[in-house]
Amino acid sequence: MGKNKVIVGCQWGDEGKGKIVDLLASDADFIARFQGGANAGHTIVVDDTKYVLHLIPSGIIQPGKICLIGNGVVLDPFTFMEELEFLTEKGIDYKDRLFVSPACNLVLPYHKLVEAVEEKNRGTFSIETTKRGIGPAYVDKVARNGIRVADMFEPERLKRRLEYQKVIKDKYLSGSDDERADLKRTYDELMKLVPLFKTLAIDVSLRLNEAAKQGKTILYEGAQGSMLDVDLGTYPFATSSNTTVGGALTGLGIGPKMIDEVVGIVKAYTTRVGAGPFPTELVDDTGDKLRTLGDEFGATTGRPRRCGWLDLVSLRHVVRINGVDSIAITKLDVLDELPEIKVCTAYDLKGTVHSEVPLDLSELSQASPIYNNLPGWMADTTGTTRFEDLPENARNYLNYIADYLGVTICIVSTGAKRKETIVV
Ligand code: IMP
Repeated sequence: MGKNKVIVGCQWGDEGKGKIVDLLASDADFIARFQGGANAGHTIVVDDTKYVLHLIPSGIIQPGKICLIGNGVVLDPFTFMEELEFLTEKGIDYKDRLFVSPACNLVLPYHKLVEAVEEKNRGTFSIETTKRGIGPAYVDKVARNGIRVADMFEPERLKRRLEYQKVIKDKYLSGSDDERADLKRTYDELMKLVPLFKTLAIDVSLRLNEAAKQGKTILYEGAQGSMLDVDLGTYPFATSSNTTVGGALTGLGIGPKMIDEVVGIVKAYTTRVGAGPFPTELVDDTGDKLRTLGDEFGATTGRPRRCGWLDLVSLRHVVRINGVDSIAITKLDVLDELPEIKVCTAYDLKGTVHSEVPLDLSELSQASPIYNNLPGWMADTTGTTRFEDLPENARNYLNYIADYLGVTICIVSTGAKRKETIVV
């Protein structure tokens, strides 16, 4: 395996990145999150303790690791504070090993208010977002109206920039009795956080570049999945950031030579939360079975996830756009009780067979999957730690995926716990 790795989700999020980052963090010195915000829900189970993180890099659970939040992340300072409290409650010391880029744009209460109105206005075209204010915060960033961590350290500037929000968001804010529209309140609450943020703010790009020169090992942690990438995913049913590998470069201020390996995380089947095309979705008993066995309910919103078979066509697209070298396959054990497992190897689009995703990904909503049927293994793989101990059909399933995608498998996850893992 390469030294400095980027971790990207290869589907529509919820692939189990948290567990894999936590595992790989044991060999890393630095873990740096590069995009997204508190829309993410990264779950890590160590022994009998479950940790769900939204903003803070999953590496924080491993003692002594340095965790950085890069400028590409939109940071909700209030959720961040709740997460710090959660870590303290769990006895995890983050002092002197958690840092934030001053160039992070803030997600503020009014972003959630704007999002609630916009989602309602979209009506039947609603994206079904996580309602964490992510889209409106990235809109402000790109429109250069955003408020960044650094603005908190300049009270007059912060006040001025908040005042300007009133001008540009007048239709959402004026006359509203929702407390999220109260900019004075937001200002006061932010000012309370200044002393803490002053201790956390560092030049993330500089720190990482120096670390690389010193031969330290870095893990770049992505959130959401590649099919939710705002440029390369199923737009407009996407999130608002670059979830793919390029996001690591711009979201942390690093050059491409600081990445030695791209690790893609692939769930052994597919899930999606929220609206948008999903060709292999199963709206039948098998889909329900996957949801129940896989406990497929959102870590951030609790929403039931849509479930379906593995889609190798979209995965091949994702491997290509990220330059994925190796994959970690998660939740293999969820398939233990299925006599037959299907994998989608092409789409039927208006009577024509396509072995690549369509040029316009929104056409995926009309794609019928063409499946290859593989035999299941009907045996318990939970907790298996050696590849050779897996049933033959499980090994065949994994090898089929790797061959089809032209990648190697670096990890297979056979349960939620840290030790329920095969390192290949
Ligand atoms: P947003 O990121 O909250 O704007 O939501 C946009 C779309 O991305 C919606 O379909 C969400 O359900 C989905 N989404 C955002 N974050 C995650 C995640 O961490 N896991 C899975 N889906 C996500």
